Amino acid sequence: MLIDHFEVSSPNVKYTADYIESSYNYQDTKLYKNAEKNTWLVEPIERGFVFRTHRKVPKLGIMLIGWGGNNGSTLTAGLIANRENMKWETKDGFHSPNYWGSLTQSSTCQIGKLNGQDYHVPFKNILPMVEPNDLQIDGWDISSLSLEKCVQRARVLDLDLQQQLVPYLKDLRPRPSIFDPGFVAANQKERADNIIEGEKQNQMEQIRADIRDFKEKSGVEKVVVMWTANTERYCKVEVGIHDTEKNLRAAIRAGNPEISPSTLYALACLDEDVPFINGSPQNTFVPGVLEAACRLRVLIGGDDFKTGQTKMKSVLVDFLIGAGIKPLSIASYNHLGNNDGKNLMEPGVFRSKEISKSNVVDDIVASNRILYKEGESPNHVVVIKYVPSVDDSKRAMDEYVSEIFMNGRNTISMHNTCEDSLLAAPLILDLCLITELLSRIELKYDDEESFRNFHPCAALLSYLTKSPLVPPGMSVTNALYKQRAMLENVFRAVVGLAPVSHMNLDLLIE
Ligand code: NAI
Repeated sequence: MLIDHFEVSSPNVKYTADYIESSYNYQDTKLYKNAEKNTWLVEPIERGFVFRTHRKVPKLGIMLIGWGGNNGSTLTAGLIANRENMKWETKDGFHSPNYWGSLTQSSTCQIGKLNGQDYHVPFKNILPMVEPNDLQIDGWDISSLSLEKCVQRARVLDLDLQQQLVPYLKDLRPRPSIFDPGFVAANQKERADNIIEGEKQNQMEQIRADIRDFKEKSGVEKVVVMWTANTERYCKVEVGIHDTEKNLRAAIRAGNPEISPSTLYALACLDEDVPFINGSPQNTFVPGVLEAACRLRVLIGGDDFKTGQTKMKSVLVDFLIGAGIKPLSIASYNHLGNNDGKNLMEPGVFRSKEISKSNVVDDIVASNRILYKEGESPNHVVVIKYVPSVDDSKRAMDEYVSEIFMNGRNTISMHNTCEDSLLAAPLILDLCLITELLSRIELKYDDEESFRNFHPCAALLSYLTKSPLVPPGMSVTNALYKQRAMLENVFRAVVGLAPVSHMNLDLLIE
């Protein structure tokens, strides 16, 4: 059953005109080693938190770097189609828009039971969140094509829909962007006709000016910036250049060539107090950027949207290893024909993707040292090829060979075909909406005077990314359902509710 909205009825939760405030008792465990007895002790611990969520949802703008690409243009078209409630005809009949694939818009959370039945609420209604139809969108691209032409170039959406969108898209043009051919494949130069000239410092200033200009012209109160431009190669992180905020800023002023466009964007956003999310796998967040984010207390998140093959992997490997089955090999082949695939042909750029796709099982393997000895892991190979004729319709083929009971073998093969951008666009939406919400939540330990914010490294976005950025000292979780549980349960805590445990204790008792 679905209910739309709820309020929490508890002495620990208070609704005012401006805030939802909750006191929450966080329960966890602490582990000790008793050296004398050579035993482990696990101690249950409790800590009181207070959360305060600002209820007023701001007018939000999102700025996409790579706005004219398949993801950027598909999201823009999808938002407009939803907002205008367009209907379009295909050979299969009429279709209407939706937000399927969006965690916030199209998934639900269990909120309680009535007469033994589970009741659910839309994820987006646990806490007050921006409505997608109210979003303003803007962005940058090295290609000057209007959004109308970008949607045509992407060939993702049906023709009738594309035509209905023309009046809304024809005047949308990406702002000129920072382009450094040294960081992407040589084949990307052909589309680069919309570039901010000048030195790195000036380029960064221009990005800051663009953000201010967008705010002023659109009247939005808050902005979130997202990198959905081409994957860059890793920058070679060097002491004296990228290692501290001071060195990074000095290196930018000196025009150091080993500072990537995405790093310049990230720093420009931090300086404008605007959260920056990296949807691609490169190492945008060099130590100097991390230091700046922590000093300025602005959220950053990433890396690399977790859409198809990797999402599946982070479910399947978690299931296998969680079931006590030992994957021996994971061989993943992809081919795709969009511009992302074309860019990934360059070995240095492909390497960024390979790293982000490969690390996704590490924590799951490390969680089971019954199956894997220290240092042991499955053979894991990732291949990506560019096949232009399949366009945006990416193919992913995976073979998982596992060892089962009494040395038996189990092979699972999977073939997945999907329009890549239709998977990524709802994630971009979620990343922007959740980031905005996170910036509206304050928290503190119950014995502290003043509230703080979430750590600038937005670990709560993990569910949506292949290679989650987490605060120092926190281990990365890749398993999809743990990532979802983390987000859902933190949101529940923020409104004063216990985590969903699925224990059903009161029904288990006779
Ligand atoms: P795309 O190639 O269609 O779009 C990228 C856009 O970025 C292009 O319009 C290009 O002109 C522009 N661009 C390149 N360098 C730029 C720069 N320095 N500044 C501004 N714009 C720049 O690619 P698509 O399919 O939209 O993917 C975008 C990114 O998202 C890629 O890095 C891809 O790896 C990443 N991604 C996509 C996923 C998916 O399922 N579609 C999944 C995970 C990551």
